[in-house]
Amino acid sequence: MASTREWFETVEEARRRARRHLPRSVYLSLVAGAEKGITLRDNVAAFGELRFTPPHIAGLPATRQLATSVLGQDIALPVIASPTGVQAVHPDGEAGVARGAAEAGTAIGLSSFASMPVEDVAPANPKLFFQLYWSGTKDAMLQRIDRARQAGAKALIVTLDWSFSNGRDWGSPAIPEKMDLRTMVRFAPEGLARPGYVRQWLRAGGLPDLTVPNMAAPGEAAPTFFGVYGEWMQTPPPSWADLAWLREQWDGPFMVKGVMRTDEARRCVDIGATAISVSNHGGNNLDGTPASIRALPAVADAVGAQLEVLLDGGVRRGSDVVKALALGARAVMIGRAYLWGLAANGSAGVKNVFDVLRGGIDSTLLALGRPSVHDLSPEDVIAPADFARGLSK
Ligand SMILES: Cc1cc2nc3c(=O)[nH]c(=O)nc-3n(C[C@H](O)[C@H](O)[C@H](O)COP(=O)(O)O)c2cc1C
Repeated sequence: MASTREWFETVEEARRRARRHLPRSVYLSLVAGAEKGITLRDNVAAFGELRFTPPHIAGLPATRQLATSVLGQDIALPVIASPTGVQAVHPDGEAGVARGAAEAGTAIGLSSFASMPVEDVAPANPKLFFQLYWSGTKDAMLQRIDRARQAGAKALIVTLDWSFSNGRDWGSPAIPEKMDLRTMVRFAPEGLARPGYVRQWLRAGGLPDLTVPNMAAPGEAAPTFFGVYGEWMQTPPPSWADLAWLREQWDGPFMVKGVMRTDEARRCVDIGATAISVSNHGGNNLDGTPASIRALPAVADAVGAQLEVLLDGGVRRGSDVVKALALGARAVMIGRAYLWGLAANGSAGVKNVFDVLRGGIDSTLLALGRPSVHDLSPEDVIAPADFARGLSK
């Protein structure tokens, strides 16, 4: 269906609308990517290296089955929203993402660095998975996950692929610590260039809130993003024993996000994880590591029968989802795609992104002659000989 004011037909069109609508620094902080952006670009380019086997023309399935389950939740299509911090791109924020995903019949990951409290987001989508970083004391982490559990989170995601890389060759956008009069004056030129964005926030009753309420200690005000970032940087990284401890604290489905190696995927099985996501944090971790889709086949071979293998990074169309499933993923998570949808049209834009992906998955299944997402196999795609870039462990 051709794009209209209310509907975009591709994720790329959502990105263009987001770029036109958002102040420059907000748009750049979504696109981001560490250092030179090698991994950021490879995440997308690697999907382009994969080809499908020639389409069938007869005997095709009249209907296709897209439904599956992830972390104990039934979902209408094999795509969920990956956790992303501080969604100041639209006043609907994380609650809008939750609603858009719920209307599309799927689940969300809610970041511990989100701008809305888990208690306000969970009612919009009961299929909510809370995401935690290894930050602060064990007591503080326990308190955060306990709060998420009480708010109704169905699973815990621990994200481990962050090594505080700093410096982007294209220049990191200046993100203020909080919105006060001084900040507003400083950012006025950007606001003047994007009056629609400013109007939208004023109509919603304020300006973007850059605090992270899910990181607040009991009874304390929400800290700022940069306040908690400092705490996280100073926290010693976890050992496998620490991760086994964390897993024991959560009585329910548990995902480790950021796995790129088969040996560590096996360690995730050992600690009793329910799922992993093969991920390089959307190209925001160590620049120069390969696209996550290149690591997927070896990881899925190693552990796919023992836990749920998801993938995130670079998914921009339904056919990308099908490629990931063919190479062993149970489902994928999307990041920037739904953030662009949110920026373009709030909660409806998030649903629009899932609908675009649903349509793309469905037509790819039809062409491949596969009646269900569960029927896909590596035989459906053609990968160049060096696709895995030597990744086998
Ligand atoms: C702006 C932005 C913020 C993010 N914040 C988080 C976060 O708070 N927690 C997390 O686990 N991952 C975070 N991620 C990573 C995403 O969950 C996901 O791994 C990544 O976006 C997938 O790549 P894609 O954007 O190409 O789909 C963030 C990514 C972006 C782009």
